[in-house]
Amino acid sequence: MTTISRRTIIASGIVGASALGASLLFAVNRLSGSARDIAEVFTTPLPLPSLIDGRDIGNVVTIEATTGTTKFQQGAASRTLGYSGSYLGPVLRLHRGDTVTMTVANKLDRQTTVHWHGLLTPSDLDGGPYNAIEPGDVWQPFLTIDQPAATLWYHPHPHGDTARQVYHGLAGLLYVEDGSAQSLGLPTNYGVDDIPLILQDRAFSAEGLLSYDNSAAAIQHGSRGTTLLVNGAVAPRAEVPAGVVRLRLLNGANARNFRLVFADRRSMHVIANDNGFLAAPAAIDTLTIAPGERYEILVDFSDAKTIPLLTYPDNIAPPGTVASDSPGEPATPVVLFAPKGPVKSANQYIPKRLVDAEPLAVAAAARRRSFVLDGMAAANDAIIKRANAMDASRTGNGMGGMSGMDHSQMSMPGKSNDGPSGLELGIRMGINGAPFDMARIDAEMKVGETEIWELRSTEMAHPFHIHGASFRVLSLDGAPAPEHLKGDKDTVLVRDKAEILVSFKQKVEAEKPFVFHCHILEHEDAGMMAQYVTS
Ligand code: C2O
Ligand code: CU
Ligand code: CU
Repeated sequence: MTTISRRTIIASGIVGASALGASLLFAVNRLSGSARDIAEVFTTPLPLPSLIDGRDIGNVVTIEATTGTTKFQQGAASRTLGYSGSYLGPVLRLHRGDTVTMTVANKLDRQTTVHWHGLLTPSDLDGGPYNAIEPGDVWQPFLTIDQPAATLWYHPHPHGDTARQVYHGLAGLLYVEDGSAQSLGLPTNYGVDDIPLILQDRAFSAEGLLSYDNSAAAIQHGSRGTTLLVNGAVAPRAEVPAGVVRLRLLNGANARNFRLVFADRRSMHVIANDNGFLAAPAAIDTLTIAPGERYEILVDFSDAKTIPLLTYPDNIAPPGTVASDSPGEPATPVVLFAPKGPVKSANQYIPKRLVDAEPLAVAAAARRRSFVLDGMAAANDAIIKRANAMDASRTGNGMGGMSGMDHSQMSMPGKSNDGPSGLELGIRMGINGAPFDMARIDAEMKVGETEIWELRSTEMAHPFHIHGASFRVLSLDGAPAPEHLKGDKDTVLVRDKAEILVSFKQKVEAEKPFVFHCHILEHEDAGMMAQYVTS
């Protein structure tokens, strides 16, 4: 094993670091990079979302979208949003074969929806841009869980307002269980050896308050912050047993790609991605996870060494250039793992095989379609220039681009006066050149059909995501999909181009089409989304 040198492990966000007044964020951003420095700063115990197991409560589950305050650091209480809490939401553990009475209450002052990202359910039970819940109302879908075990998630999806609502805290994990993890001998003890890691990046004001950068520039590239959060915590430390531990990773960021690597490059044994277990574990040392994607990995901590998980900077190669996960770049600590306990008896079991994969039936595909994920730069040029000029005159620095900062703390987040969204600014992005239009159907197919979709990105890498269907990645940038991208997925990072085989099994009901879109949430809100119906 090679060790990443002291020189290459540096602080998180460089830009804006000096603006973070309070001690913890400041310390994180000033890490010199030695293992001891990281251990001194990464001391916040990793928070665990509360676990709601449907079977413990007769499969009657209630969650509330609500406002609250969250102290991301000492002293500074940010206004945030959460599900049944002040930031993020509980892990919902649901079981295959069960029907769950789900109640979602909207305690916000604006419309929301809840989308079950990755859940295969008819469209009238899923809150895409449809199934809006008005303030004070409840929505009650009856969800029949019928798909293999997987780590899914839920988040709001109201038309044009997804980015702000997710950014301020509305997101949670949804586990589908079917007993396979137990029969495979995988770790299943929630929060002990089966640990959720919700990865996000956030911006903070000089006072340490959560702030959302919705400047035109941030919307164009997706809004990013310089501080990394895991389960809502800055600089967390996870105590784990000294053995094999299962980590369930969700990229819950609005726009940032994480490129994860352990400081000593130890193997990550990928056992599952978006929609379930792989046929066999795939061992890698660097894992790129795009917004919306999930991976489950097994990591062997039986050497009992305290070790940080790092991320390389998000500089995924743009379309048409050679993609590289080049090591040797500066990496930032994300979370510190501190193994504890009896090392001798440590579990070191990593299965050789996982689940049987359905064979790829490419020849059976009913048709081919192509979709371009389109930033529509030319169309937005004038709007972005105008917005930047306004920013520059307001801030007087001529740099522009920061007008969105702090708006969210001047009012309750989620209100329309927390700065304009991309849609409100007039920024338009699209698929095949057309911004999302709820009145236009972009594709029609029959339940049971499969199709080959050719996806292309313009201007930058876009994470493509589809509702109500799963797919297999046939090729990425002209090469076969790597092992850890095999199996059923619902989100894939398209740097240049991808070919996927999509399987449509869900009914579109009650004139509520399913959507597909870029999972950079600012792009989605600006219209990089389209919709389909099945019959
Ligand atoms: Cu995770 Cu349409 O979203
Ligand atoms: Cu989704
Ligand atoms: Cu995009």
